[in-house]
Amino acid sequence: MSLTTTQQLQLQHSSVRRFLPRPLDPGQLESLIRCGQAAATSSFIQAYSVIRVTRAEARAAIATAAGGQVWIEQAPEFLVFCADLRRIDGACRRAGKGALDGYSEHGLAAIVDVALMAQNVLLAAESQGLGGVFIGGIRNAPQVVVEQLGLPELVTPVFGMCLGWPDEANPVKPRMPVDYVLHQDSYRELSEQEVSGYDRVMADYYAGRGSNVKLSDWSSAVATAMQGKKREHMLEFLRARGFFRH
Ligand SMILES: Cc1cc2nc3c(=O)[nH]c(=O)nc-3n(C[C@H](O)[C@H](O)[C@H](O)COP(=O)(O)O)c2cc1C
Repeated sequence: MSLTTTQQLQLQHSSVRRFLPRPLDPGQLESLIRCGQAAATSSFIQAYSVIRVTRAEARAAIATAAGGQVWIEQAPEFLVFCADLRRIDGACRRAGKGALDGYSEHGLAAIVDVALMAQNVLLAAESQGLGGVFIGGIRNAPQVVVEQLGLPELVTPVFGMCLGWPDEANPVKPRMPVDYVLHQDSYRELSEQEVSGYDRVMADYYAGRGSNVKLSDWSSAVATAMQGKKREHMLEFLRARGFFRH
């Protein structure tokens, strides 16, 4: 089956962390955000806010908090995507229905909303020749982000995004075969051979890519990544923000 240009664009995605010193065109950011807002949103809650970070000190503090990710300082645009229950809390109160009370379901809905919105922003950006990368590293020290950006209660930073004109083109990272992730009727566990088959694909990718060459495969890379990013402060942080209290 032939692919549409949208599908081709989606399949060409790779994260960009090096940018040309060239700003986005006038109005371009606003148009990307509008595309983000067009994403589906649970019960039409639109539970997101995006903070465009232009202050160099704020960028530097967040880059350090995110483990020294210099592209946060260097990218023409750095956005922080927040799950935002604040406006909805206001609507509930105005309607006489009481405060939101930090239910996990509401927090999940807001986090899903902001993720869908952000992916739309990145895809729209890529369709215009821009590149970017999500920055989950802001959750290393999310309180720094709250303080730098003046985020009120019921607004929590979920991830950042660097955007700009690419100064690098990374090879596309091979995803798992479709039948590893598309199950029919019931869940199917992967066999050892399937896992090691994909580990070999990723080992070849890591060994052969132009930069950041490493001796690794999918299983060891994700094991290291996940064990290194437990971020044990997150539950307490989210609860303090008014999320996941019940
Ligand atoms: C929510 C999220 C958080 C991420 N956080 C970071 C990050 O902090 N720093 C970074 O360099 N890349 C980050 N990435 C990019 C991933 O490492 C990247 O998407 C993944 O390795 C696949 O590579 P690709 O995007 O080039 O296909 C993040 C991606 C997502 C979706």
